[in-house]
Amino acid sequence: MGAEHVRPVLPGATIGVLGGGQLGRMFAMAARRLGYRVHTLAPEHDTPTGQISDVEINASYEDLDAVARFAQNVDVVTFEFENVSAAAATTAETHAIVRPSGHALHVAQHRIREKSFVADLGVAVTPFAPVRSDDDLQAALRIVGVPSVLKTAAFGYDGKGQVAIREAASAAAAWDTLGRREAILETFIELDREISVIAARGVDGSWSAFAPFENVHRNHILDVTVSPADVPVALSQRALDATRAVMDALNYIGLLCIEFFVTRDGRVLVNEIAPRPHNSGHLTFDACRTSQFEQQVRAVCGLPLGATDLLQPSAMANLLGDLWTDGEPDWRSALGDPSVKLHLYGKYAPRPGRKMGHLTVLAPTTLEARQRVLHARARLMPSRTQKSDV
Ligand SMILES: Nc1ncnc2c1ncn2[C@@H]1O[C@H](COP(=O)(O)OP(=O)(O)OP(=O)(O)O)[C@@H](O)[C@H]1O
Ligand SMILES: [Mg+2]
Repeated sequence: MGAEHVRPVLPGATIGVLGGGQLGRMFAMAARRLGYRVHTLAPEHDTPTGQISDVEINASYEDLDAVARFAQNVDVVTFEFENVSAAAATTAETHAIVRPSGHALHVAQHRIREKSFVADLGVAVTPFAPVRSDDDLQAALRIVGVPSVLKTAAFGYDGKGQVAIREAASAAAAWDTLGRREAILETFIELDREISVIAARGVDGSWSAFAPFENVHRNHILDVTVSPADVPVALSQRALDATRAVMDALNYIGLLCIEFFVTRDGRVLVNEIAPRPHNSGHLTFDACRTSQFEQQVRAVCGLPLGATDLLQPSAMANLLGDLWTDGEPDWRSALGDPSVKLHLYGKYAPRPGRKMGHLTVLAPTTLEARQRVLHARARLMPSRTQKSDV
């Protein structure tokens, strides 16, 4: 398939997206603006991605016949959901160009493989040890110590499948609560802050990154991102260099995000790799010359990568389903600040903790952008604001 891999997939062609969430939705918006057609495959009906796509196919990611038919009908396949099985990725690769590759997905979707791969490159990661048995768990406690965090090796997101371990005696019970599934024990890091790097790598090895984003999590879920991150240039460069090293080693084609922990003593440790656009890059839609979604289109289609410069300091605040507790949020009030940009993902059921949308603000400083985006979000729930006297 050599020549096919080099020939660009030009506007007018069809891109297949595995997954139906908001990442695929914003990807599809960028792809359609560039003149591509988009097909999506997801188990659910009328998905955030499907609403923007030309065609939505409803099938399980493990329905290999459906994945094969899906891949046959598109020019290139990419992902917005990385937890598809190796069998599904291989099936797609049999019938279409798949970017990023099944191999990259395989590494990134499993915390032990991911951290081992990164550490083997000489890139610093959170100290860790694998846990597959009671003996492993005891050995891991000796290596990693406490406090630590026990995480399932696969299928975690938004802090699901994680338990904090404060004393060694509680580790066995913690593993029980994770169903004794294959896990990883990590040192609990005293964080100075969290940053992320989103970068794209083209078919020709070209590489382009956004400046690091600074992220604040609440209940293990991303809450607010600002750009540029308030970190020294040298530290930012280390995160960029680490990202490039990982992408080159994976021979990665497409866009990915690496989440980093910045420790209080100034070290930069890889937390995890997301082989797709990332929530911390949502502000690029409004704040950068090229959005992370357009950049993914360009990378997977073999087009030249776009300029990633930040047009103005900016901040993004996530809108979780909790905001719907007292009814529909007050959109008019939040948009009363004319600099506020509202993005909603077309989801019908606003469950607590579910990512429903986000707000972005551009301003002369990150401090101001952050304040304005938080004020706008607070105005979405006027009743609650009054109750708690924010
Ligand atoms: N070892 C650690 N030390 C300190 N904080 C941690 C550690 N591991 C996780 N956290 C906190 O929990 C958050 C979520 O952890 P992580 O990124 O591993 O989980 P996830 O469920 O895969 O989340 P995501 O939605 O980003 O995929 C981190 O961003 C960080 O705030
Ligand atoms: Mg994470």
